[in-house]
Amino acid sequence: MAKHSFQSLVLVLNVIAFYRVVAQWTHESESIFKLRLYMNCTNVVYESKNIVHSSYWVMLNYVPAAHGNLKCYESVTYTTHADYRYLSNVGPLVKHWRSPISLALYAPGLDFESTVKSILWLRQCDPQSKLIVQWVSFHIYFDITEIPRNIPKTRALLKRKVWCRKPVQRRFYRLEKGLSYPVNVGRNIARNASLTHYVLASDIELYPSSGLARGFLQMLMSNLSMLNSETPNVYPLKIFEVQRSIAVPNTKTELQHLLAKGYAQPFHMAFCSSCHNGPRLPEWINTTDASNSIKVFHITKWMVKFRYWEPIYIGTKNDPLYDERLNWEGMWDKKSQTLILCLLDYAFNTLDNAFLVHKPGIKLGTSRERLHKAHRTYRLLKRDIIDIAIKYSWRFNCAI
Ligand SMILES: *[C@@H]1O[C@H](CO)[C@@H](O)[C@H](O)[C@H]1NC(C)=O
Ligand SMILES: *[C@@H]1O[C@H](CO)[C@@H](O)[C@H](O)[C@H]1NC(C)=O
Ligand SMILES: *[C@@H]1O[C@H](CO)[C@@H](O)[C@H](O)[C@H]1NC(C)=O
Ligand SMILES: *[C@@H]1O[C@H](CO)[C@@H](O)[C@H](O)[C@H]1NC(C)=O
Repeated sequence: MAKHSFQSLVLVLNVIAFYRVVAQWTHESESIFKLRLYMNCTNVVYESKNIVHSSYWVMLNYVPAAHGNLKCYESVTYTTHADYRYLSNVGPLVKHWRSPISLALYAPGLDFESTVKSILWLRQCDPQSKLIVQWVSFHIYFDITEIPRNIPKTRALLKRKVWCRKPVQRRFYRLEKGLSYPVNVGRNIARNASLTHYVLASDIELYPSSGLARGFLQMLMSNLSMLNSETPNVYPLKIFEVQRSIAVPNTKTELQHLLAKGYAQPFHMAFCSSCHNGPRLPEWINTTDASNSIKVFHITKWMVKFRYWEPIYIGTKNDPLYDERLNWEGMWDKKSQTLILCLLDYAFNTLDNAFLVHKPGIKLGTSRERLHKAHRTYRLLKRDIIDIAIKYSWRFNCAI
């Protein structure tokens, strides 16, 4: 008798569990349906193709990710740029992000071979190789005047096996040729290639806190009016750095512990805090809430007060492009884009319970040569403002 009632109890519990799963599933698919309706984005076909973009040859999705086609409202894509020397960041990055990554690699001339070898190494030998194959789309671009001698077809390339020793540092052709790094060409290629409407256009050494992509979409689903707002929005993230021996924190609570102990600090605190702090940093660090869910912490329209802030944010593929005349060596490479956002009256919605952490190791300064070039860029930018001001109508809360 006892055995019999035990069995019916198990049966009842199973039925309840089944209905809970179904209810959760329908609830979730209903929210996703609403998200699709409100986001009203266009799906993109996931394909490899070669295009010419200003003076560059671009191989879009030269090595595609295994995730295949995605709906534009389904996720958030981390879009970024690099040359092959920075590819050791891909493993830790995908481990934190676990969602699509669109990566544009600059590989002129002889750098092409080192670049494809590094991609194969990542896909075959990296500790995170499974996640890399699943999530990372690699695009390659180079100057039309620097076409590599031998470009294998993707299918032939992926059949090649690499030897899983540590990847060797090879000749660095770009530097030998004195080519500057076209950072904003890479940023624009990677962002444009995203399958999803929302993107986090970032730098490859910045690792996101865990669950960011999903948490961000959950935030939108829980308040769909955010997708209906009159003014355009971007969602900046606070950025931190940690000491070399410290693991990158996953949650705000972990980050706060590290900050309190002095193992972590705001990014570039030593030499350009105003470039990254943004509004109300001390207050951001100080606030906690039990839910730990991602939400908007503070909204600002651009203000003269934050004129040096070059925020990194979640935005959409339709935000203004980065100015391709600016290169990495000159610094201030995100400056005119941020100014244009201000002129277009974007609202900057700093997120809470989400952040970026620079690859472990605290940066103390920058080379004198780079600073010198930075001053030159700044003068150029000041002149460009006049062009920009003519194109977009001027607002007095915007400055450079
Ligand atoms: C969705 O976008 C299309 C074109 O981009 C537009 O014609 C349509 O009205 C939009 N629908 C909604 C519900 O906003
Ligand atoms: C932008 O992306 C679309 C769709 O993937 C593609 O057709 C187009 O050629 C891309 N343009 C550039 C400049 O990357
Ligand atoms: C939802 O978002 C709108 C627009 O951003 C905001 O004004 C409102 O306060 C939010 N509502 C809640 C409950 O968070
Ligand atoms: C941080 O929070 C504590 C307690 O809530 C408060 O006393 C302190 O003034 C806050 N500091 C900042 C910088 O906001």
